[in-house]
Amino acid sequence: MKRFHFPHKDIIDSQQFSREDIDTILEATNRIVELKQQNRLFGILQGKLMASLFFESSTRTRLSFEAAMQRLGGRIITTVGFQFSSISKGETLYDTMKMIEAYSDIAVMRHPVEGSSRIAASAVKIPIINAGDGAGQHPTQALLDLYTIVKERGLPNGKRIAFIGDLKFGRTIHSLVKLLTHYEVEFVFISPADLALPQSYRKELIAKGISFDETEDLKAMWDCDVAYITRIQEERFADRDEFERLRNSYTIHRAFVQASKKETLLLHPLPRVNELSTDVDEMPNAAYFRQAAYGVDVRMALLCLCLQADMPSD
Ligand code: CP
Repeated sequence: MKRFHFPHKDIIDSQQFSREDIDTILEATNRIVELKQQNRLFGILQGKLMASLFFESSTRTRLSFEAAMQRLGGRIITTVGFQFSSISKGETLYDTMKMIEAYSDIAVMRHPVEGSSRIAASAVKIPIINAGDGAGQHPTQALLDLYTIVKERGLPNGKRIAFIGDLKFGRTIHSLVKLLTHYEVEFVFISPADLALPQSYRKELIAKGISFDETEDLKAMWDCDVAYITRIQEERFADRDEFERLRNSYTIHRAFVQASKKETLLLHPLPRVNELSTDVDEMPNAAYFRQAAYGVDVRMALLCLCLQADMPSD
């Protein structure tokens, strides 16, 4: 049996990871894929129970975590939305988490309030995985995004990577930018000026001596190796008129992608709305559905690492 060294109880944000941690996660994911091919996954997390707490809507994150747990032989308990939780009766997140701790071995939580995962993790001894906290972070998405880049194009070193769309509210972007600072990447940020990357992230890049380009011109993706496209995050706008003004800022069609000289790898965390046309889907470099599928493998690895599980060795 093999147990990977992983010095974290919780997964809260991307900046908690060292380069060594990231390498461990990629290696553990590769091992999971090998075990999957050998039909040897079931039983690795037998006897473990995962609480799936999704206080905000989700398709990919919730179902891929639940699939991951069950493919490893673990089981799940789940709650979706505040309306079916006693939080709707006024119970605090702290009290809720004390109950979750009594009922389960690990919890995965999505919550609309930035910082809520950290509060939850400090309340309990079981591992807490942040599955998205408001406009804050979504670290497991960033890890599967990185895994996708590595799987499809190799390590990110030397690559020019465009981030397109709602860089202000897009938590997947926030997490991936922080993760990619461990590599020698050229960052290109493409967005309407009102949805630019928050100042704190830009300051951090500058402090680390990492240069980046910022533009509103979508054509800047044409000389990039990877384009990470995101939707305008409607649910984060306090001002409806502001959203209406920005909602149709850009749409990427097949003809636009074909005009590029490079075979730019197209990623999107999904869901998409109108920023990425379905006529792109059949292009070989459109990797976003493969990206979502890799999420199960990465999340199986993360569950094993957080639960300090042994994986079968050869
Ligand atoms: N990418 C992502 O977080 O998708 P869901 O909101 O469907 O979980």
